[in-house]
Amino acid sequence: MTDSIKFWAVVPAAGVGKRMNADRPKQYLELAGKTVIEHTLLRLLKADVFAAVVVAISEEDPYWPELEVSTHEKIITAAGGKERADSVLSALKSMRDLASDNDWVLVHDAARPCITATDIQHLIASLVNDEVGGILALSSHDTLKNVQGDSIVGTLDRRHIWRALTPQMFRYDLLKNALEAAEGNPAITDEASALELQGLQPKIVEGRPDNIKITRPEDLELAQFYMEHQHD
Ligand code: C5P
Repeated sequence: MTDSIKFWAVVPAAGVGKRMNADRPKQYLELAGKTVIEHTLLRLLKADVFAAVVVAISEEDPYWPELEVSTHEKIITAAGGKERADSVLSALKSMRDLASDNDWVLVHDAARPCITATDIQHLIASLVNDEVGGILALSSHDTLKNVQGDSIVGTLDRRHIWRALTPQMFRYDLLKNALEAAEGNPAITDEASALELQGLQPKIVEGRPDNIKITRPEDLELAQFYMEHQHD
């Protein structure tokens, strides 16, 4: 590893989270005495590897400035965008004068508050010498069906199916160029898919199953359970 290479965290946090049916975006719901996003950011800061954590926030967001963590010296705020990929690209553009092309960027969902230092360190250690980068992922234990309407039209070979988690770790220039090239493409639901469109093959690194994304109301209780049982 070259000493001058830095690691940056980018946290898209400009989503509304419709599936939660809540009165505020899901990253601001309470979980174990803090908001979801505070847990996420404090864990990234505690990992102690990032030069800064760049958070993409919606311009109409009244909740963010109320949080103490918003003024932390290692937190930088960028404008959010229409889709997740737009928010990530906006964050990357805001770092233009800070990051070098070869620096590593770890993009992590604000809505994944159970991220652990072990997962972050495992991802970095696995990919730091890789040309392209890659993502935390989980293999699939369930049998997976291809469905049209309400009928099964096939069974997927689950040995080849992985669930994409975050962080997703790529070089600054490679990721920014890939997201710029893919702008407006609705198929880009994570960073890896933008790199795949460039013909690249990001790696998978097996992550921990407790790194869940808060999507539905019951996920908050599950996240609290995991937090109470995590020891790092
Ligand atoms: O909605 P979903 O769970 O896929 O969102 C994943 C992450 O992307 C969340 O942290 C959300 O706040 C963020 N996001 C964003 N800008 C958008 C949509 C989602 O930063 N326009």
